Amino acid sequence: METSTPLDGQVALITGASRGIGLAIARRLGQMGARLALCARQRDRLERAAESLRQQGFPVLAVVADVANAASVTALVEQTRRTLGEIDILVNNAGLGTFGPVQEITEADWDAVLDTNLKGVFLCTRAVAPQMIRRRRGHVINISSLAGKNAFAGGSAYCASKWGLMGLSYCMAEDLRGYGVRVSVICPGTVHTEFSPHAGKDPRKMLQPEDVAHAVALLLTQAPQSFISEILIRPTQKP
Ligand SMILES: NC(=O)c1ccc[n+]([C@@H]2O[C@H](COP(=O)([O-])OP(=O)(O)OC[C@H]3O[C@@H](n4cnc5c(N)ncnc54)[C@H](OP(=O)(O)O)[C@@H]3O)[C@@H](O)[C@H]2O)c1
Repeated sequence: METSTPLDGQVALITGASRGIGLAIARRLGQMGARLALCARQRDRLERAAESLRQQGFPVLAVVADVANAASVTALVEQTRRTLGEIDILVNNAGLGTFGPVQEITEADWDAVLDTNLKGVFLCTRAVAPQMIRRRRGHVINISSLAGKNAFAGGSAYCASKWGLMGLSYCMAEDLRGYGVRVSVICPGTVHTEFSPHAGKDPRKMLQPEDVAHAVALLLTQAPQSFISEILIRPTQKP
């Protein structure tokens, strides 16, 4: 029988959930009955997001953490396990972008983008996978981008991180599917958030964070024998 809270009691860890797409995903999973663990680096913004979710009645743990730092990720996963229980759902959403011609990208900017968008997904999944393997269930959902499929001027660091994330996602899916753990990747087009200026684009024609949350909900309500591995999302009109 269908229920409005199909994730009742499940524990969902959403990275980069203090605003934008991550916050919309957290809200949607809370509405579906999940207990929520959120992380971001800036405490104030994270606490405000957590409070807004608690006011909607959802159980929320907010942990300041940097997904690009292995010790920080270990502490995040351990605190989530101790406070909420074993993690059923990991949404690797935290991400950032630096845009500009390749000859002008600094090493520090390159490292920040690759460490967050690619290494961060590896670190978080590596930390959570043993719990899922032991319980022979779980879902890892990686938020990539259409920039993980396409190339554009000024996108070298960001596209490299997201193209890399596509390969990482598919390899992790093969490593984990035999244990009943599904790894899926979502590639949205331009979404109306604070992420980047999106100069010259009409926000009313962009995707909204809730559109990505909808795709996450779709993945999490599949029957156990079904495994949608990739979703591409485009706005109806070109922004
Ligand atoms: N917006 C778009 O057009 C678009 C399109 C396709 C894909 N995406 C992808 O969607 C994801 C979310 O983007 P968004 O638009 O919601 O961006 P956003 O509004 O800038 O939010 C990014 C979130 O990630 C957190 N974060 C950044 N670096 C982090 C780190 N090292 N450790 C932990 N948290 C970190 C930020 O908080 P702190 O800064 O406090 O850490 C914030 O909560 C990203 O992976 C992005 O690449 C975005």
